[in-house]
Amino acid sequence: MKLVYTVASAFLVVLIAQSAYASEKLSAQDYAYNSTCLNHLRSHIKRELQAAVTYLAMGAWANHYSVQRPGLANFFFDSASEEREHGLKLLGYLRMRGHNDLDILPSSLEPLNGKYEWENSLSALRQALKMEKDVTESIKKIIDYCADAEDHQLADYLTGDFMEEQLKGQRNVAGLANTLQGVLRKQPRLGEWIFDNNLSKSMAV
Ligand SMILES: [Fe+2]
Repeated sequence: MKLVYTVASAFLVVLIAQSAYASEKLSAQDYAYNSTCLNHLRSHIKRELQAAVTYLAMGAWANHYSVQRPGLANFFFDSASEEREHGLKLLGYLRMRGHNDLDILPSSLEPLNGKYEWENSLSALRQALKMEKDVTESIKKIIDYCADAEDHQLADYLTGDFMEEQLKGQRNVAGLANTLQGVLRKQPRLGEWIFDNNLSKSMAV
């Protein structure tokens, strides 16, 4: 009888240990976890994804037969993929830092200002440049806030990896807008077509 009790109690101990194992989740949140700082980053993911959707709308517009700017369409579609990639990088970063919310993605997304059409290539590029500058400003504000909140790891990650890519993208859009403006000054009628033709060729390389 004593043996039966011993076996039964050992079995009970194993069961309790198993249920504790099943219900216990170990936190990955680190020492510098600052909820406000990470929430700013979370909001920034929406900004990156909205930039992706805006570039998609620009690409679709430039690709329409009535606009017919295939070079610009490819540039905008590539830019949309890059912005989506930035959103994914930040999602991965938040997970790495132990941000536990699963409800992390924006419930709705539409292009900036609900806009799907542009007057011409230059007006689309000007809006793209403004959007890039707003994204840069948002990243800078997060860096400032998180450095003050002593989350130096996040401030460093955004300053190094993230900001450099952002600034390169911004510089690229500014360069394209300036080139187009220059071509249009010399060739007001054909300038947009010449610019798009050259952009198509340079993207094909
Ligand atoms: Fe971005």
